[in-house]
Amino acid sequence: MVPPEIEIRDYFLRRRIFPDIGPYITANGNQSMPYAVYKLTHLLGIFVLLMTLALPFMHMLRGGTRADFPRRRTLALTHGAASFLVLLGGFGMLARLGIVQGGLPNWILVKLTIWLVLSAALAVALRTTAGARAVLIGTPLLALLAAAIAIYKPF
Ligand code: HEM
Repeated sequence: MVPPEIEIRDYFLRRRIFPDIGPYITANGNQSMPYAVYKLTHLLGIFVLLMTLALPFMHMLRGGTRADFPRRRTLALTHGAASFLVLLGGFGMLARLGIVQGGLPNWILVKLTIWLVLSAALAVALRTTAGARAVLIGTPLLALLAAAIAIYKPF
């Protein structure tokens, strides 16, 4: 049994412990998007973002350039949309967790910095082969860092 002083904000977790709490309703009585939907949005954005940042490497390695990258516009649009979904899901979760009160916590500021770097990384990957290689190696490491920060919330 969960001690009453622990407030469980995640609806799906709460429903597992208290099966008869009913549908998801917010404080003002509206039914709205639950935490899990925002988390899945966050994850979809992350998966697609990682794929778009991996794509330029082979092209550049084979002597390609930014100008002759096939469907460069589609790649850029997909990368931008994925980046937006990461942000949407992230802020959605923050709202559901009730974390934003006054200012953003430091762990979110660090995640926002990582997000900025990954959002700018496509331009770097399409510039030179060395840039594409750095993005290919650096991206999973930064994504790992962002995930670890969300899980441990060290600061
Ligand atoms: C591309 C950069 C990012 C990556 C790779 C990333 C990755 C992740 C992952 C894997 C999780 C799930 C962790 C878990 O299951 O507990 C997560 C959770 C989360 N992320 Fe991100 N994230 C990124 C950017 C952001 C940004 C920019 C924000 C804020 C606007 C954000 C806010 C959150 C929040 C609030 C959670 C939920 C934490 C919790 O449930 O306690 N993330 N992130």
